[in-house]
Amino acid sequence: MFPFGVDYYPEHWPEERWPRDARLMHEARINVVRLAEFAWSRLEPEEGRFDFDWLDRAIDVLAGHGIRVILGTPTASMPPWLASKHPDVFMTLQDGKRRTYGNRRNYCPTSETYRLYSRRITQAMAEHYADNPHVIGWQTDNELGGQTGGCYCEACREDFGRWLQERYGSLDKLNEQWGAVFWSHVYNTWSEIPAPLESGSSPNPGLALDWKRFASDAYVDFQQEQIDILRELSPQKFITHNLMGFRFDQLNYFDLAEPLDFVGYDIYVRMQWTIENEVDPSLAALGHDTMRGLKRQNHWVIEQQSGSGGWEIVSVAPRPGELRLWAYQSIAHGADGIIFFRWRTARWGTEQYWHGVLDHHGEPGRRYSEIQQMGHEIHVLGDLIQGSEVRAEVAILHHYDTRWAFQIQQNNPSFSYAEHVKQIYRGFYRQNVPVDVVHPATELSGFKIVVAPALYVLPGEVADNLQQYVQGGGTLLITARSGVKDEANAVVEQPLPGLLAPIAGVAVEEYDSLPSWKSNGLAFEAPGLEGETLESAIWADVLTPTTAEVVARYTREYYAGRPAITLNHAGAGRVLYAGTLAGSELFTRLARWLLELASIEPLLETPHGVEATARWKNGRRLLFLLNHNESSATVTLDHDYRNLLREGAVVSGNVSLAPYEVMILQ
Ligand code: GAL
Repeated sequence: MFPFGVDYYPEHWPEERWPRDARLMHEARINVVRLAEFAWSRLEPEEGRFDFDWLDRAIDVLAGHGIRVILGTPTASMPPWLASKHPDVFMTLQDGKRRTYGNRRNYCPTSETYRLYSRRITQAMAEHYADNPHVIGWQTDNELGGQTGGCYCEACREDFGRWLQERYGSLDKLNEQWGAVFWSHVYNTWSEIPAPLESGSSPNPGLALDWKRFASDAYVDFQQEQIDILRELSPQKFITHNLMGFRFDQLNYFDLAEPLDFVGYDIYVRMQWTIENEVDPSLAALGHDTMRGLKRQNHWVIEQQSGSGGWEIVSVAPRPGELRLWAYQSIAHGADGIIFFRWRTARWGTEQYWHGVLDHHGEPGRRYSEIQQMGHEIHVLGDLIQGSEVRAEVAILHHYDTRWAFQIQQNNPSFSYAEHVKQIYRGFYRQNVPVDVVHPATELSGFKIVVAPALYVLPGEVADNLQQYVQGGGTLLITARSGVKDEANAVVEQPLPGLLAPIAGVAVEEYDSLPSWKSNGLAFEAPGLEGETLESAIWADVLTPTTAEVVARYTREYYAGRPAITLNHAGAGRVLYAGTLAGSELFTRLARWLLELASIEPLLETPHGVEATARWKNGRRLLFLLNHNESSATVTLDHDYRNLLREGAVVSGNVSLAPYEVMILQ
């Protein structure tokens, strides 16, 4: 059965209401709910006194309607008794100030005290629910890492020293790799090494990057303690966590996902924070492809938007059809479970305006009907969809070390690694070409095109991996600021792009970091592109080809006429080097050119705002057409299909999709 559900907080509502909630859920074909992830003060009202009675009763009510349960460990928000007894469990922000009680995600992940309480509640829950047949899985904590910037307390600093000792073995090695001699920072003892607090100003880049790795490991480790307990005491149930797609960048999600059975994803398209922005469906698509890429396996959506988002501000209301459209977009990108956040809008608390399936008053309305419609559809089609795979011939490499190193040194005030990746991703997305977002050390031979956007921190094994990929016949696109740093965040000694120079067949002779009001023109001369001109921005590498051919030259500045983009043949493959970091038309054009070179066909040509994507099972393809426009759009089909959302009616030729309409075609 395809998991279709809601996040439910029975503790927010009178118990007499629960049966009605369960009935309404059942009538919408909801078959799974997530419970308890913020219920610590109800599960352990006082230190060491556990109360599962209410939760047992809630689970029973749901089970009475065939609804299964995922339980969250409630450690993302601590109860007041814990906070007042142990004020040292709060995180210290980079400005050196300790957080205080009142919100959530405010604990220090290395705190021994907090970890003790975290293990205890996890253990109590695992023991109590191990044999409950209605509980099918666990979610650890909630959105680990969050956007808090992490903890910088003294306990973390001490732990950092131990972490460094393990990584470097000796202070001599650390001093050498960090170049600690610069500004006389040579350390004689591990305890002299500081946390990169704001009061210390711009830190040594080596120290700063290691701190980010350490801080990520701290959360991975925190989660692992819960996982160990759950695996031991409740081995029959799956374990997941709700991650934040491409948006959150504080943790290395590859590491966080590694011990999970599958990745969970929280996806919000219209949020209070994005009220001024137009919806950009490519961002949700990128989020899904990133989540699917973590384990190279289908994921679930643990929180799918169910209404206007809002804490202090209320977001634009999802238009009729959008909630369903977004949920199908999730499925189209590999989700094997959809859980809407949340069932009923809370009357209290910070998230009073984060709208659920039901409004505050609890009566079914437009959003309920829409989700109910989808529930009935999934009930019919779920088995066909579940376990089918997204097949991508294009991979984009996502590298957290690089992302963090750019947070430490932005290189150019207009540059953002995330925006750069998004721009490149859109180039393929707009042409309906599926993409996998993967780890740079992953086996790449299955992809026809690999893009390594600004691969700034380049470990030797990743360079080897890329070289092997190209030698074996792959097509690789790399962009400016690749191969600049070694793993200690020191600049490499050889000409750029460093370890990639041999396969790129090019050397960066010099570079120019551009002000936001300046761009540089590119004049193309490679076959298939000759005569075209486009603009590039943010960064200009001035290239000297060694073995590469020139694809485009700059048209302005003192380096007018010098190569900006080159193509090199290496082994059985080729490397396109783009010596710039921005140009939305540019990267769309380069994507199109590469697709032709690598003989990749788009799934279908569609008008603007209509997305086509596909999943495969047993050699058969399900084609998803998603109209993200507020107006109808016409798509020309390549042959006859059956529209599974219209009882298999045959469609062919020009078909019209209503605003926000979805088609699943077979
Ligand atoms: C998510 C989070 C939920 C809820 C929601 C709305 O990111 O996991 O617990 O806070 O946002 O703000």
